[in-house]
Amino acid sequence: MNVDVVAVSKQFPGTLALDSVSMSIRAGEIHALIGENGAGKSTLIKVIGGAITPDSGHVSIDGVHQNFATPRHALKAGIHIIHQELMMFPQLSVAENIFLGNEPQLKIVRRKQWEEKALSLLESLGHPVNPRTLVENLSVADQQMIEIARALSQEAQVLILDEPTSVIAGDEVEMLLNRCRELRDSNVAILYISHRLEEIFEISDKITVLKDGKHVVTRPTRELNQYSLTELMVGRPVKDRFPPKREFGEPDRVILEVRNLVSPPHVLDGNFELKEGEILGLGGLVGAGRSELAEAVFGARKVKSGTVKLYGNEVTGSLPIEMIKRGVGFVSEDRQTTGLLKLLDIASNITVATLEQFCKRNLIDRHKERTVAREEIERFSIAAPGPEAPVATLSGGNQQKTLLSRWSRVAKLVLILDEPTRGVDVGAKTEIYRIIYSLANAGVSILLISSEMTELIAIADRVAVMREGRITGLLERDQVSENSILRLAMGTR
Ligand SMILES: Nc1ncnc2c1ncn2[C@@H]1O[C@H](COP(=O)(O)OP(=O)(O)OP(=O)(O)O)[C@@H](O)[C@H]1O
Ligand SMILES: [Mg+2]
Repeated sequence: MNVDVVAVSKQFPGTLALDSVSMSIRAGEIHALIGENGAGKSTLIKVIGGAITPDSGHVSIDGVHQNFATPRHALKAGIHIIHQELMMFPQLSVAENIFLGNEPQLKIVRRKQWEEKALSLLESLGHPVNPRTLVENLSVADQQMIEIARALSQEAQVLILDEPTSVIAGDEVEMLLNRCRELRDSNVAILYISHRLEEIFEISDKITVLKDGKHVVTRPTRELNQYSLTELMVGRPVKDRFPPKREFGEPDRVILEVRNLVSPPHVLDGNFELKEGEILGLGGLVGAGRSELAEAVFGARKVKSGTVKLYGNEVTGSLPIEMIKRGVGFVSEDRQTTGLLKLLDIASNITVATLEQFCKRNLIDRHKERTVAREEIERFSIAAPGPEAPVATLSGGNQQKTLLSRWSRVAKLVLILDEPTRGVDVGAKTEIYRIIYSLANAGVSILLISSEMTELIAIADRVAVMREGRITGLLERDQVSENSILRLAMGTR
């Protein structure tokens, strides 16, 4: 099946998200769609999938004019979309999330059959999860795999993937890319969105770049390289993806000390020291327990034994609110459920963790709040019409920057960052690294969890590695490499 997008425009309050965009997706081709945060990528695929009605322009399927009225119509026509923000029923099981709604005529739920199918699907993606588990008990990586399995469970003619790999890594990514190649070879049309340029070059046949809602260029992948592509995306040459390694002596002062921390089932032995102004990377495979360790340290997860000391004082088992008061900030991995206040505006989302600074006689000083938010929008280059824009209307990467802004304002001592550049475009990533450096240079200690190996290696001063709930090693600066991290992460020599 071929899809043509013809001169599609979409205006949101304050933002022209799509400005007469045209592009084609062809059967048997993997077409990558890239652009900065807020460029209009997700909006475009929502138009194709019938979730958004364009103001003008149209979509054609095999040459026939076809603006789908609802996502269900698009699905029926064989267009399957893996959305950027996961859409799950948390109280239902894995199998139900994969199959419910796919067979609408069916009155009975064929649970047993679904469970078997679900397991074999997930196994074929290299990510077996018990199909009976409730989705609310799963990590975001697991949920992402279920979202992928759901899209692959039906025969798609057109498969659209909106940042499918922002929370998964390693083997899972490889399996997914392989699956995409197989589908392409069986004549499925694929549209693939990602901010990970390595992936784009690995998998795509063609690349389309969007910028500020406009189509910039469509070219065969082989005519481009990371450098030229970044330039097309950002609109100017970008010299380096990572800032130069910063000068960092060996400070003696330990700010955060974690000893033998146990928080079952995911954290079995957490050990690390975070020194003043240091950036300590925390590496490991997805599922190693890194997020859970960070949550236990921050008080968001029950600690069974072990100690957490801040400046030499024991704070084990403190509540997050107490940690916040002591100057510890935490950007969590899952911005949708544990990060954003989705019904509020940008200003409230930025100030919520430091609200007392904005209170006068128990009333929130909205003027002050907005003024600060305006500065933060500037500091983090958040693409938004203003501080009063609802945070739910921001693109994924700009939501991420909003959270970074909130927590960097809290973090006087320690900032824990769990996948902070998830879904952030290349240009904005560089900005975030710059902000991490300037916080660290000002004395804030940073714990950086990242599944992106290049990021850990480039940004962290030292790297601790976790495997199956335990810290398995600490790599000093001159020992940090992809190999050494992987060895500790997988337990091989
Ligand atoms: N429902 C909405 N109401 C108002 N503005 C919106 C809405 N949805 C999207 N926008 C705006 O439209 C623009 C394009 O957003 P879109 O989500 O398509 O970007 P994107 O290219 O997918 O970015 P990202 O890489 O961050 O996911 C952004 O400026 C966003 O804030
Ligand atoms: Mg998007």
